[in-house]
Amino acid sequence: MPNFKADEALNYDQRITRLVPGYELLHELTAAQLKTLLPDEATILVVGAGTGKDIIELAQINPLWHFIAQDISEDMLAIADRNFTNLGLSSRVTIVNGPLTPTGEHIDAALCLLVLHFLPDDGDKEALLKAIRSQLPHKAPFFLADLIAPETEFERESQLFACRQLGLTEVGEQRMRHNLHHEFYPLDRMRLSELLAQTGFDTPHHYFKALGFTGVVCRAD
Ligand SMILES: C[S@@+](CC[C@H](N)C(=O)[O-])C[C@H]1O[C@@H](n2cnc3c(N)ncnc32)[C@H](O)[C@@H]1O
Repeated sequence: MPNFKADEALNYDQRITRLVPGYELLHELTAAQLKTLLPDEATILVVGAGTGKDIIELAQINPLWHFIAQDISEDMLAIADRNFTNLGLSSRVTIVNGPLTPTGEHIDAALCLLVLHFLPDDGDKEALLKAIRSQLPHKAPFFLADLIAPETEFERESQLFACRQLGLTEVGEQRMRHNLHHEFYPLDRMRLSELLAQTGFDTPHHYFKALGFTGVVCRAD
């Protein structure tokens, strides 16, 4: 997994829009659904909050929602913290640096965007999903976006081409090509559904697909 520290954190915001085709749209569509689903006053758990993109998008569409921004990278959260301060959002966000542990708060929905694909399917993915599920009441929505296993033999190559069109350099493309094989642990659709069922979620519904990057929404069983 990339370590999301120092320079990797500092240039994350520039880098990610070139590495994930549809990054902005993924966040917009996630936010649109939460806006439709949640009441005006709600608390949203954001697992792997990174530099704060998920929360910044959501905070704009509802002035009352509160957020828990959890991540294991102190450097990513430091940037998120600065962004929240600059945007006047700090009083609405609790930052949690470190592994996901019980927050003790009532949580209405959870997000885990572009995180789970970095964890191997050797118990680590399951442990994180279980930790998320344990924070959610029955029927609470859960939004998950991940790189999933290629569904055609030309998908990954096309994805790299799309990244070049988005401004990724040749060196960046080489690194991404390497990372796609060595730094990600993509599941196929069937295993993703199985893992979600095993960890206490219902059927995932696909709402976003940009080549390998896939967004699903499900509910806590
Ligand atoms: C690609 S970034 C996604 C950030 C944000 N969700 C977004 O959409 O921009 C992945 C983030 O997941 C974090 N991460 C990786 N493993 C994690 C874990 N087990 N628990 C929480 N965060 C994790 C990384 O530190 C990094 O900030």
